[in-house]
Amino acid sequence: MNHRKLNFGIMGTGRMAVRLADLAAKSGHAVTLGSRDKERAQQIAQKLGQGISGGSYGDAAGCDIVMPSIFIRDGAFEALKPFADAVKGKIVVDIFNPFNDCYSDFILPWDTSAAEELQKIWPGARIVSTFKWPFWEAFENAEFEGGPMDIIYTGNDAEAKTVVLDLFKASTWRFLDGGGLENARFTERMTLFCGQLGARYGMLPRVGWRLLGEPWKGGEQDAYGEIIQRWDRP
Ligand SMILES: NC(=O)c1ccc[n+]([C@@H]2O[C@H](COP(=O)([O-])OP(=O)(O)OC[C@H]3O[C@@H](n4cnc5c(N)ncnc54)[C@H](OP(=O)(O)O)[C@@H]3O)[C@@H](O)[C@H]2O)c1
Repeated sequence: MNHRKLNFGIMGTGRMAVRLADLAAKSGHAVTLGSRDKERAQQIAQKLGQGISGGSYGDAAGCDIVMPSIFIRDGAFEALKPFADAVKGKIVVDIFNPFNDCYSDFILPWDTSAAEELQKIWPGARIVSTFKWPFWEAFENAEFEGGPMDIIYTGNDAEAKTVVLDLFKASTWRFLDGGGLENARFTERMTLFCGQLGARYGMLPRVGWRLLGEPWKGGEQDAYGEIIQRWDRP
């Protein structure tokens, strides 16, 4: 695929915003870091370096691909509602985890996900949900025993998924297609559990998931199959 320079707008200037801005810029794309305070965004963009400029939330929402990087508990959905028209038909990267203030649970019920709730607010957006983990400092400390962690992405738009992979192609992590957008219910819960485990074992925030597996066909080397064979079934 020919390299296409994407125009990526991020709303928010916190821990995830700066890291994903940096990653997208290192992947060869142009990034607009948007803030409630344009001057703050410009100062941060200048320090981050080449390919990144500062602006407002409106400037970020005006880009071809948009990513909110605000906590739901801090009022993300209310802040985003006015931009529904601006993102209509655009690819939107969802990284929301619906954590409460003390990160012990979620503020959304089990039968939905932040990704699906974002889709309700921005119905015209082509959402790709990803980067629910890693937690912040794992970005610049990405070497793990046993290989790089996996990043799962979910969404209902196959083309949008391909574009988002290109947006972050400088990443050393392995990306796994997690199926439809509603599977963000899994990835978000996996993040919550990962955080709990990481805290228990003193790893947080340098903790994440990796899927283990080898190419295999069921029954290929089933050591117990003969023993439990049923004679009443063909
Ligand atoms: N931290 C992680 O490890 C991690 C991992 C995966 C996903 N996420 C998700 O990424 C998103 C951002 O997380 P983060 O850790 O980067 O958050 P953060 O460091 O707290 O930054 C959040 C940004 O939200 C903006 N904001 C808008 N309204 C706000 C308000 N009322 N109070 C505070 N900030 C407000 C601020 O940007 P301006 O002041 O520039 O407007 C702020 O920089 C969240 O949805 C989170 O669930 C986080």
